Amino acid sequence: MKTNNYTKKGTALITGASSGIGEIYADRLAKRGYDLILVARDQKKLECLAKRLTAESGVRAEALQADLTSKSDLARVEMRLRKDEQITLLVNNAGMSVEGSLVGGDLDRIETMIQLNVIAPTRLAGAVAPGFVSRGSGTIVNISSVLALAPELFGGVYSGTKAYLLNLSQSLHQEIGQKGVRIQVVLPGATRTAIWEKSGKDVSNLPAGILLMEVEEMVDAALAGLDLGEVVTIPSLPNISDWEAFNANRLALRPNLSRDHAADRYMAAVSL
Ligand SMILES: NC(=O)c1ccc[n+]([C@@H]2O[C@H](COP(=O)([O-])OP(=O)(O)OC[C@H]3O[C@@H](n4cnc5c(N)ncnc54)[C@H](OP(=O)(O)O)[C@@H]3O)[C@@H](O)[C@H]2O)c1
Repeated sequence: MKTNNYTKKGTALITGASSGIGEIYADRLAKRGYDLILVARDQKKLECLAKRLTAESGVRAEALQADLTSKSDLARVEMRLRKDEQITLLVNNAGMSVEGSLVGGDLDRIETMIQLNVIAPTRLAGAVAPGFVSRGSGTIVNISSVLALAPELFGGVYSGTKAYLLNLSQSLHQEIGQKGVRIQVVLPGATRTAIWEKSGKDVSNLPAGILLMEVEEMVDAALAGLDLGEVVTIPSLPNISDWEAFNANRLALRPNLSRDHAADRYMAAVSL
């Protein structure tokens, strides 16, 4: 077994670590010296990955099997996040997408997606945050999507779940960023993982202008964004000033979002 050269960083709990983005996070965080708790449903894959990362990086890695759409499994992971003070980083990554529209769509599958993409990361962040606040340190990374900014490109429920994570992260940063807790929300563009095939989409047939990034490059960029201290990281976006301008425009709305009278254009219509 190799031993890593890094100071121990504590333990990272990564959801959806059995494949794709979560698996690469596990690899990179092991190389950075984090011990790992790997969460997903496929216990065999998690155990294999844990074994490999321990052998390669000398970190402790544990497979924690859980179906995050099951209330009792989710409660077990929450309990671990509340009780285990070695945990310094939560990567809320597990997610799924459902092909097609809400109109005529499979409502049960859509509900499961909301459970996994919204309820699970919310409860896990809510479970770990009080300990981070009381210790004055800790990091929560939420994996959103560029679709948070582009609801017209894809089914509105999936993009809505990702917009929720962007909203939640910005609000959490405002609330506990000053208390030593780092919040980062990552907005990947299309990334080459199994999520496409699982949701029945053909990656060789993406709309014009949507290009696929390799998963290693996406995760390395996201971690570079974390190192830079970013709250919002958009790996594909060439100019950060584009995001900053968008966000500044959003913030500029604020003084006018809640007033004691309706805007003149409506008042004029009312007095007709
Ligand atoms: N790939 C992209 O183009 C892209 C772009 C933007 C954002 N994202 C987001 O990135 C995240 C990771 O997706 P990915 O692309 O890496 O997809 P992926 O390869 O399909 O990985 C999804 C992970 O989530 C786990 N998972 C699925 N259902 C689960 C459940 N019920 N309980 C616990 N774990 C569950 C899967 O493991 P098990 O099956 O073993 O449970 C797997 O480890 C998602 O939140 C996705 O929305 C992806």
